[in-house]
Amino acid sequence: KQIQIINGPNLNLLGVREPEIYGNQTFEDFFIELKHQFPEVSLHYYQSNHEGDIIDKLHEVGFRYDGIVLNSAAYTHYSYAIADAIKAIKTPVIEVHISDIYAREDFRKISITGESCLQIISGKGLPGYVEAIDKFVK
Ligand code: DQA
Repeated sequence: KQIQIINGPNLNLLGVREPEIYGNQTFEDFFIELKHQFPEVSLHYYQSNHEGDIIDKLHEVGFRYDGIVLNSAAYTHYSYAIADAIKAIKTPVIEVHISDIYAREDFRKISITGESCLQIISGKGLPGYVEAIDKFVK
């Protein structure tokens, strides 16, 4: 199976950025662990700080891959363009948030992009990505 992970803005700073919220591990290190955990899966990782690039990646893989794990970061809360892109493609998308978006500021409690997704996994830390991949593999 082919699965694409897409991380949005500021997630390139994982491990450094607000570690009390997002933890100490970089996504690059975590991704190595993920690949070991799912040796049978062709896993791909992409990160961008730009809305249009995230949409381009959704279009690129969204008619070919078996699943997309998407953390749109702050775009989650206001990007109708990313929400439309998720609706436009064929590949199912599971949304992941490292922190619990329902337990933070009010503006984070709304997920515009999540409405087009199979499921939202929120507040489980990096293991949330494992759970999402598991769903696609099963
Ligand atoms: C996040 C939650 C968002 O509200 C925030 O803007 C992020 C990260 C998370 O993974 O917990 O950048 O998506």
